[in-house]
Amino acid sequence: MKNIIVTGCAKGLGLEISKMLAEAGYNVIGVSRSLSDDYASLQSAKPSNVIFYEYDFSNVKGISALVKLITKEHGRIFGLVNNAAIGNDGVLATMHESEISQLLKVNVEAPILLSKYVSRSMLLNKEGRIVNVGSIIGTTGFNGLSVYGATKSALAGFTKSLARELGKHQITVNTLAPGYMETSMTNGLVGEKLDKIKRRSCIGRLAKTKDAAAMTVFLLSDVASGITGATFTVDAGSTA
Ligand SMILES: NC(=O)c1ccc[n+]([C@@H]2O[C@H](COP(=O)([O-])OP(=O)(O)OC[C@H]3O[C@@H](n4cnc5c(N)ncnc54)[C@H](OP(=O)(O)O)[C@@H]3O)[C@@H](O)[C@H]2O)c1
Repeated sequence: MKNIIVTGCAKGLGLEISKMLAEAGYNVIGVSRSLSDDYASLQSAKPSNVIFYEYDFSNVKGISALVKLITKEHGRIFGLVNNAAIGNDGVLATMHESEISQLLKVNVEAPILLSKYVSRSMLLNKEGRIVNVGSIIGTTGFNGLSVYGATKSALAGFTKSLARELGKHQITVNTLAPGYMETSMTNGLVGEKLDKIKRRSCIGRLAKTKDAAAMTVFLLSDVASGITGATFTVDAGSTA
């Protein structure tokens, strides 16, 4: 069974990706700060192929040891979904410096370090998949999301060069760029602000976590072996 690490598996998009991957027969190794009831239910439903590790990615120093532990306990890793992120918004001029470095750590440094250590398994296997979860905000911009937006464009840039570096070893690296999905990250978006986003969509609704998770599962699949260095927008046509 192929091992896939999914960061931020507890809720939202990460949970949906974990569910779909478990259903598709992968060994899902989820990592989050805490075990949610939903992820625990998934574990109960699929006890043989859904695993959980508790970890806070703001502790970047422990990532090497975490990957070592996972590899020791489950064997080499086929896929990595860098999904965990924080979405703190705020006006830059008044944003606390510690909040800025927290965003950079969790959203950029952690996925880069995870890719560094997990790609070692992939290099040994001469195959692998990395999906970095970016955002349409990485290319469009949104009031109050300058630092978050910076982290998401950083990931897209990381994807491109890493795809060049790892391609000769049959390892693909892609960015998934979702539009607004209703998750705990966006629960502050209500009323007219939310309606405005929905009106921008081609199909009159927001993207769902299921839409973005389906694209992730596709990028991890065998038929996607020739797709790399690209960004896949799943935003219900908001940016069309
Ligand atoms: N929702 C949107 O509209 C939207 C749009 C574009 C892109 N995205 C991207 O999609 C991805 C998932 O977002 P979401 O909407 O599903 O967010 P979410 O509902 O807030 O879920 C975030 C997940 O990441 C985990 N997480 C957060 N900080 C962590 C940390 N320091 N260490 C370990 N795990 C951590 C959370 O679990 P714990 O709290 O248990 O740690 C949770 O499972 C993110 O990369 C986000 O930037 C979301």
